[in-house]
Amino acid sequence: MEHRSLGGSGVKVSLLSLGTMQFGWTADEKTSFAVLDAAYDAGINVIDTADIYSRWIEGNPGGVAESIIGKWFRKNPEKRAQIILATKVRGRMGEGPNDEGLSRKHIFSAVDHSLKRLGTDYIDLYQVHWPDEGTPIEETLRALDDLVREGRVLYIGCSNYSAWRLMESLWTSERCRLTSFVSLQPHYNLVHRAEFERELEDVCLNFGIGAIPYSPLAGGFLTGKYASNQAPPEGSRGAMSDRIQAYLKDPTSLSTLEIVKQIALEREKSPSQIALRWLISRPAVVSAIIGPRDLEQLEDNLGCLSVELTDEDMERLDEGSAR
Ligand SMILES: NC(=O)c1ccc[n+]([C@@H]2O[C@H](COP(=O)([O-])OP(=O)(O)OC[C@H]3O[C@@H](n4cnc5c(N)ncnc54)[C@H](OP(=O)(O)O)[C@@H]3O)[C@@H](O)[C@H]2O)c1
Repeated sequence: MEHRSLGGSGVKVSLLSLGTMQFGWTADEKTSFAVLDAAYDAGINVIDTADIYSRWIEGNPGGVAESIIGKWFRKNPEKRAQIILATKVRGRMGEGPNDEGLSRKHIFSAVDHSLKRLGTDYIDLYQVHWPDEGTPIEETLRALDDLVREGRVLYIGCSNYSAWRLMESLWTSERCRLTSFVSLQPHYNLVHRAEFERELEDVCLNFGIGAIPYSPLAGGFLTGKYASNQAPPEGSRGAMSDRIQAYLKDPTSLSTLEIVKQIALEREKSPSQIALRWLISRPAVVSAIIGPRDLEQLEDNLGCLSVELTDEDMERLDEGSAR
């Protein structure tokens, strides 16, 4: 497995990161452990999670994915030091007015809870999950900087930030001499390009920010397992989310998928492997965060590492998916 520096930092991350949004949702604990074991054995050294994962399930308080990872670390304490453990703060974790957001108050309480669930005394990469318009950026960065100085957090990153907000954050860190973001977790894949490529990509390339995109397979759309005239497989993301249905109605997404499938046929690879390889070949991308729900999907996703795309393949994909 190839490892790359995370933005302007010295820490090395694997080309694929293991996302865990599916843990406790579409993957039970036993399967999640098996996926964690196999990903580790394959050389993946980044585990990405968030405090809010599986809070969208009715009656679920959140923290489920973090707890599963914590149990896995307790079973495998020797693996903790090798892992870049990335989690996130911002989402609502209780009913009170300060149980969400990026205030100093919420960050300090959220980090305590995440550390307990994860069964560790430090987080490698603490990410703000999405912006909080109600909190000055200086307050958020100062709280994160204090966590870094205390050793509870090693690096900080952001997710779902626009280019101007990321620049504002970087300038604030510089002006106030606070720890800076080293990574951005954007929504980026072959059918969702413009949001990242319009301005964020250049910010990442010019300001030492490592991009670690989420939803690299557009939630499963780019695996080619969905068709407009067929009901989605039972229990799949497509059966639970409107996002896949929207792609199935969008002509550019459908024609992009056709190109992905055609190149997959030519290269004797799966469509997901082509889509992942395209993403990790993009200039600002350091690592793509995959979200396999079982060992079979993990194995398929890992297969992207042995795909070689020619300049012509890249051009077909780039031109075909451009909007
Ligand atoms: N920062 C954020 O706001 C944010 C948002 C979303 C995700 N994330 C992170 O990014 C990670 C990845 O996101 P994602 O899960 O949306 O990634 P994705 O790769 O776009 O979608 C993963 C899903 O696609 C399906 N799939 C994958 N490989 C397959 C295969 N070979 N055959 C058939 N189906 C396959 C599975 O869904 P089925 O259940 O249908 O099988 C799987 O759970 C998450 O785990 C999380 O850590 C972050």
